[in-house]
Amino acid sequence: MNQNNDIIQQIKSKNDIVDVVSEYLPLEQRGKNFLGVCPFHQDNHPSMSVSREKQIFNCFACGTKGNVFNFVMKRENITFREALAKLAKRVGINYQYTNSDAIEKNQPLYDAYKLASKYYQNNLASSLANKAKKYLLDRKIDDTLIKEFEVGLSLGSKDDLTTLLTKKNYDLTTLNQIGLSSGEHDVFIERVVFPLYDIQGRIVGFSGRIYEKSDLNKYLNTKETPIFKKGMTIYHYHVAKEEARIKNSVIVMEGFMDVIRASSIGYKNTVALMGTAMTSEQANLLKRLSSNIILCFDGDNAGRKATLANGNQLEELGLSPKVISLPGEDDPDTFILTYGKEKFQALVDHAIYFSDYKLDLLKQGVDFQSDLEKTTYINQMLKEISKIKDEIRCEIILKRLAKECDIGYNTLDKRLQEMKKQEGKSNSSDL
Ligand code: CTP
Ligand code: MN
Repeated sequence: MNQNNDIIQQIKSKNDIVDVVSEYLPLEQRGKNFLGVCPFHQDNHPSMSVSREKQIFNCFACGTKGNVFNFVMKRENITFREALAKLAKRVGINYQYTNSDAIEKNQPLYDAYKLASKYYQNNLASSLANKAKKYLLDRKIDDTLIKEFEVGLSLGSKDDLTTLLTKKNYDLTTLNQIGLSSGEHDVFIERVVFPLYDIQGRIVGFSGRIYEKSDLNKYLNTKETPIFKKGMTIYHYHVAKEEARIKNSVIVMEGFMDVIRASSIGYKNTVALMGTAMTSEQANLLKRLSSNIILCFDGDNAGRKATLANGNQLEELGLSPKVISLPGEDDPDTFILTYGKEKFQALVDHAIYFSDYKLDLLKQGVDFQSDLEKTTYINQMLKEISKIKDEIRCEIILKRLAKECDIGYNTLDKRLQEMKKQEGKSNSSDL
């Protein structure tokens, strides 16, 4: 521990914060401090101050502050250990973050997945893959996409992969444990297989899709294993990490097919939750990617439900996500295939705030002739408005509501203030 602290201090002291920050953005000296445009919020003014004396940065506009490690972690979307390694390298200190035994211990498992993926990719390139290849081409997954997303094929023979891996000295128990074999057989049989990656881009599982008529489930996924936890996995995170910074946003979708399609027209700042409800781990991982998160789920009922649940989850982390609504019959994949890049771009440009989306939903189906329905609607609206922090927005929405329901603005405002007070009280009693 002490030794670790020593090396951390050493790395910190050799990486002067002013020098490090100015590798990312121009800084100008003002008195003792240095000023620059903060990279953590939209701004043109030099709101960020960097102090050589104190070795900290501080943005007066958005409140982001910290030391040199915090700056690099946030700017690069990397963990503390990764920032340490990067800054160590910058000043020629020999430090590698191999520390954890877990990485070493699981290395054979990652290797098994790498091998399996190579094997599946070879299958798809062989003459045994005609039908699967036709299926993919029909879906406009061409060779470039196949290569980029390392798409492969599991064959009909039931133990090819198991045999291959046992020849490479993997024992059956391990192969069963990591979800590549079931008993003495392969898990994936006659499916187009898509590797699933962890947030560092290592293959940790597969999702196999049927490509011929079949009664089997459309997708078969690797079970939870020591290296694959569904609730902590976000598809395409390792690529979107870099892209989200460039585009200043990240787009969240349901399926990996959607991400592959969006990526093919240049939206590489996309990720997929793969059909699961967003866990708090995933929400926090997304928060690390960008403060501008856009939800783009399927146009159907399930998609709307997912939007609502996940939007609320992100709002709880203090984020203000946006929403893209697709036509009822579409998911991002089919929308892009049908309408093309420009129409999709228009949707992204016109994404609305999730808080507005929720207000729109409340209005749907309300019978304004019925006093009871109108009252319920007003109360629900006020409850949502009371959560909005921006007072100007509150007033705009409240004015609209007053007009829409033909109620005095002051009456609504009075009730809203009461609700806020109530909310404040119950929050402080939680503490
Ligand atoms: N999914 C799954 N098992 C299923 C169906 C879906 O694991 N039986 C997951 C997959 O990860 C998929 C995501 O949920 O990527 C979204 O499901 P869905 O919208 O049904 O899939 P699509 O992306 O539309 O796939 P396709 O176009 O191939 O039908
Ligand atoms: Mn689809």
